Amino acid sequence: MIQTGILGTGRALPEKVVTNFDLEKLVDTSDKWITERTGIKERRQASPEETTSTLSAQAGRNALEMAGLSPLDLDLIICSTISPDMPLPSTASLIQRELGAGTCCAFDMAAACSGFLFGLTVADQFIKTGKAKYALVIGAELLSRYLDYQDRATCVIFGDGVAASVLGPVNTGAGILASEVHTNGTFADHLFIPAGGTARPASCETVQARDHFIKMRGNELFKVAVRSLEEVSARVLEQAGISPGEIDLFIPHQANQRITEAVRERLNIPVEKVYSNISRIGNTSSASIPICLDECVRSGRIKKGDLILMSAFGAGVTWGSVLIRW
Ligand code: ACO
Repeated sequence: MIQTGILGTGRALPEKVVTNFDLEKLVDTSDKWITERTGIKERRQASPEETTSTLSAQAGRNALEMAGLSPLDLDLIICSTISPDMPLPSTASLIQRELGAGTCCAFDMAAACSGFLFGLTVADQFIKTGKAKYALVIGAELLSRYLDYQDRATCVIFGDGVAASVLGPVNTGAGILASEVHTNGTFADHLFIPAGGTARPASCETVQARDHFIKMRGNELFKVAVRSLEEVSARVLEQAGISPGEIDLFIPHQANQRITEAVRERLNIPVEKVYSNISRIGNTSSASIPICLDECVRSGRIKKGDLILMSAFGAGVTWGSVLIRW
C-alpha cells in the first residue's frame, strides 16, 4: 500500500476581527463570560464579497505552493463544509474552477467540525490504493452567515476561516499512521439548522422564525464531545502502538478551551504539547484543525519526524482522530 502524507498546507482568514467587546454590544453577554466559559477572545468574520469558495481557492493555492505542485497535478479535491457558497453546485466545483484544476474529481463533504479529518481519511483511501496521486483537502466555513446575532449561546462561539492541505505519497513510516471516523445520528438535533433544506424549505415563515440559523444544545454536546474525543484518540494511538507520552503535538478541534483541557487531562498529555488558537480564531468548525496545522507548520512548531495527533468532534454528531508522522 502507498503511504499518504501531507505535502503542503495553507490558510485564508478574513481580515475583519470581531472581539468579545463587539459582541457585548449585540447580545446580553460579557468578555468575562465568553473568556471563562470558552477561552475565546476574538474571531474572524468574512466580508460580503468573500465566499467559502474564494477563501478556499486562496488557501488551496498557498498549500499547493508549499507542496511545489500546480492545480493541474491534483486528482482529487475534497471540500469539507457545512457553509457552502450555495446548495448547488458543490463548493468543490467552484474551487476547482477558480484554481484551474482541470477536470479532477471534486466534491463536498459535510461532517461539520470533524470534516477535515473525514476528508483526510477519504483522501487517504484514494491515495493508498493508487486511485489518486495528489489530493487537496479543504476545511472551509463561513459560519457567520448562519449565526443568529440575537442568540448569545451560539454567536459568541463560531468564527470564519478556511485552510487546506495537499496530500500525496510519502516514504514508508511517514504520513498517516492510523485514523478512525464515526457518526452517531441519535444526537443529530444537538446542533442543527432547522430550515432551508427539503424538510422545511425556505419560506417567509421560516425566515421570520429565524430558523435558518444554527441552533445548539451546547451543554449536552459538551459531555458527548469530551467522552468521544478521549475514546477515539486513545483507540487511534493504540492502533498505531503509540503511547500518549510519545506524541509531539496534539491538535484538538478548537471548540471550547474547557473541552480541550478535559480531553488533555484524560489522555494525560502535557499542556505544552497541546496546540490552541481558540482565543484568536474561535470555533471555525471544519477549518479549525487545518488552520492550526498551517500555523504550526509555518511557525516551525511542527518538524520533520514529529508525531501529531489530531482529534475532532462536531454536529451529526461526528467524531474522529488521525495520527500522522510528519
Ligand atoms: N453570555 C452570557 N451567558 C450565556 C451565554 C453568553 N454568551 N451563553 C449562554 N449563557 C448562559 C445561559 O443562558 C445559561 O444561563 P441560565 O443558567 O440562566 O439558564 C448559562 O449561561 C449557562 O449555560 P450553559 O449552556 O450551561 O453554559 P456552558 O457552561 O455549558 O457553556 C457553551 C456553553 C460554551 C456553549 C458550552 O456548552 C460548549 O462549548 N459546548 C460545546 C459546543 C460545541 O462543541 N459545539 C460542537 C462543535 S461545533 C460544530 O460541529 C459546528
